[in-house]
Amino acid sequence: MNITIDQDRLTRELDELAAFSDVPAPAVTRIVFSERDLQARAWLKALCAEAGLDVREDAVGNTFARWHGSDREAGAVGTGSHIDALPYSGRFDGTVGVLGGLEALRALRRAGLQPRRSLELLLFTSEEPTRFGLGCLGSRLLAGTLDTSADETLRDGEGRTLHELRTGAGFSGSLESVRMAEGYYDSFVELHIEQGPLLERRGVPLGAVTAIAAPASLRITIEGQGGHAGAVLMPDRHDAFLAAAEIALAIEHAALSTGSIDSVGTTGICDIFPRAINSIPSRVHLEADIRDSDGARRDTMLDSLERACTEIAERRGVTIKREFINRDAPAACSPKILSAIAASCEEHGLAFDSMVSRAYHDSLFMSRLCPTAMIFIPCRNGYSHRPDEYSSPEAIAKGTLVLAQTIAKLAEK
Ligand code: GLV
Ligand code: MN
Ligand code: MN
Repeated sequence: MNITIDQDRLTRELDELAAFSDVPAPAVTRIVFSERDLQARAWLKALCAEAGLDVREDAVGNTFARWHGSDREAGAVGTGSHIDALPYSGRFDGTVGVLGGLEALRALRRAGLQPRRSLELLLFTSEEPTRFGLGCLGSRLLAGTLDTSADETLRDGEGRTLHELRTGAGFSGSLESVRMAEGYYDSFVELHIEQGPLLERRGVPLGAVTAIAAPASLRITIEGQGGHAGAVLMPDRHDAFLAAAEIALAIEHAALSTGSIDSVGTTGICDIFPRAINSIPSRVHLEADIRDSDGARRDTMLDSLERACTEIAERRGVTIKREFINRDAPAACSPKILSAIAASCEEHGLAFDSMVSRAYHDSLFMSRLCPTAMIFIPCRNGYSHRPDEYSSPEAIAKGTLVLAQTIAKLAEK
């Protein structure tokens, strides 16, 4: 089978998708269920229909585009990723896996493949936590790791519930129905930019992802005592922000102390109340993200944060409340798929490195449902979640070629 990737078309489609944005290029902002997101989805569904795929959507907007195989009873081979983009981010995160996945299916059609298993492109809803504060919303629901009460408990910054927003966007039905049936997929492969510097630094065109790191995120609320910034004497203060600053440093310390480069901790949200220059902060809301490829080691960071919070609260006379947004286990990728990726790379004379994904992906939750693995391509300087995120058309085409070859192999197994 001679698979050829239409690199020019794929590059053009990535450009077109990037134009569905709420901010000027090169930055991209595309928030789930926003008008732009819905326009981008309509554009993508038209491309899938044009490619002869059978398109359906579930109650949360996960979108499936299927090429029926000769054996309709056999579990399908899935591929895909997300198109939501966090504020002022780039144009390749997620989109490469969606449009690359679509081009892989088109390329296999052009090559004359007649698959035994069905092949399916899957667009996941809300991989980014931007709107609802929780990442991988669509894949969590597919895997059944998120309770259907999320319909009411998940709210955006303006207090609108998931239920209100998804039905407003045209996705109705019960969240329970999103859950994927056992055996629906035989295997799932996601193509994604690395979002780190290793492939580029080593000059290797592809990565085969063997494991996806375990993410945890927490809301931390610190209550201290406010007051006059001039009149309250320093020894009498219970400044909630100073406690928050110590917590952020304790998170950094916890990550640096494990001795592993795979341990990371970030405090990405800090809201101060009442936020006035001459008023002592009385309350602070932090959100922190703590990850490791090793679940037990990630938990040692969480334990160390807990001890630090107890000590800081006591010493500063503040109260600190912690609540997990999510605390997920890591995923091990499937040896069966990894060997199909390795064989595909070899057939096309492309080198690859086995590597861990430090970012999370919908594949983390797909791995709860079926054998799953990922293919990474290099991105410039490892930049991601910023407007200058970039992967070359050649790098994307190589990843798409190996994706196509891999799913073709899996379709016959
Ligand atoms: C995904 O966007 C992540 O934060 O890993
Ligand atoms: Mn992302
Ligand atoms: Mn992504």
